[in-house]
Amino acid sequence: MSGEEAPTQQQQPEQQEKKPDEPPPAAADAPEEATSAPAAEEKTLSFRALVLTGHGGYDKVKLQVKTQGEPRLQPGEVLVRVKACGLNFGELLGRMGMDELLPSPPVTMGVEGSGVIEAVGEDVKERKVGDRVIVLSLGGMWQEVVVVSANRTFPMPEQMSFEEGAALSVNYVSAYLMLFEMANVRPGKSVLIHMAAGGVGIAATQLCQTVQDVTVFGTASASKHETIAQGGVTHLIDYRTKDYVAEIRKISPKGATNSVTGPKKNLLAVAKTWYNQLSLNTLKLMPANKAISGFYLGHIINEELVSRTMFKLLELYGQGKIKPHIDSKLPL
Ligand SMILES: NC(=O)c1ccc[n+]([C@@H]2O[C@H](COP(=O)([O-])OP(=O)(O)OC[C@H]3O[C@@H](n4cnc5c(N)ncnc54)[C@H](OP(=O)(O)O)[C@@H]3O)[C@@H](O)[C@H]2O)c1
Repeated sequence: MSGEEAPTQQQQPEQQEKKPDEPPPAAADAPEEATSAPAAEEKTLSFRALVLTGHGGYDKVKLQVKTQGEPRLQPGEVLVRVKACGLNFGELLGRMGMDELLPSPPVTMGVEGSGVIEAVGEDVKERKVGDRVIVLSLGGMWQEVVVVSANRTFPMPEQMSFEEGAALSVNYVSAYLMLFEMANVRPGKSVLIHMAAGGVGIAATQLCQTVQDVTVFGTASASKHETIAQGGVTHLIDYRTKDYVAEIRKISPKGATNSVTGPKKNLLAVAKTWYNQLSLNTLKLMPANKAISGFYLGHIINEELVSRTMFKLLELYGQGKIKPHIDSKLPL
């Protein structure tokens, strides 16, 4: 928590007192919680938030109004008026209770968004009131105002919309780090992208095209093939009806040298994964000159790496080499 009453992005269980708005339909089912009015002389701030009230379906996500004392910014923090926030696969898992890192409900989810800085704390030199920024945080972005460390904000290019800003960070930082930090993609290589029509897959495909002569194999449902082909996937594989390993070997007997994002699991795939895990002999990697790596954005503690990656991505955006794909916009 940044200041005991500040709206914050740290992943803490919701402790602020909440009261329903003139309730929109979703707020009607919000859990009853005690509401105590702030002291009369204290300035208050009211803002809407999407709160996960329990694990399960969409009915567990409620639009609520929080009223609390005005945030007191700590040194290095900024207050951002959120204009757009992203919805990721991870949040769907969190909603269903499958994200161990997410605190127990009630909790406000959301790790990425964009908005305008409304206030800055002491020692904040590189951001000022009025700046349009992208925010990549630890949680709590699904609300209208957030307090966040200034070094988790990144200046938005003028031509970038708030929706694009909100869609950039998780997908592109994940794809960039997997491709260039973990897999070390170089000119002339081939890459297999699972879920190529998803947010990370689209980002990875665009990023592959920033490297000369990279061949992209992409798995996706057949209905999405035309779109991802236009996006730059060279070889399209319908993993729902075909064995992608066999398909790749038909095209390229040596296979793809790099693979990004996890495959969609069906029972056969789970069984294969289980078998492969048990049978993996790391000593065999050495004579084969192969490497295996894992990646989890939520566990990257190197702030400098995240920041450097974001600035690189903003540069690529400015050069027109990457562009987030916005599928739908949902008003709060
Ligand atoms: N480790 C990390 O740090 C990290 C970071 C970001 C994302 N991820 C993971 O990477 C994967 C892709 O993320 P994303 O943001 O690209 O996901 P996304 O945009 O939601 O796309 C997911 C894709 O999965 C396929 N799919 C198959 N069954 C599905 C189902 N029941 N519901 C939804 N989609 C289904 C769909 O493609 P088809 O129709 O073609 O099958 C869809 O395009 C997820 O598993 C996510 O958790 C990991």
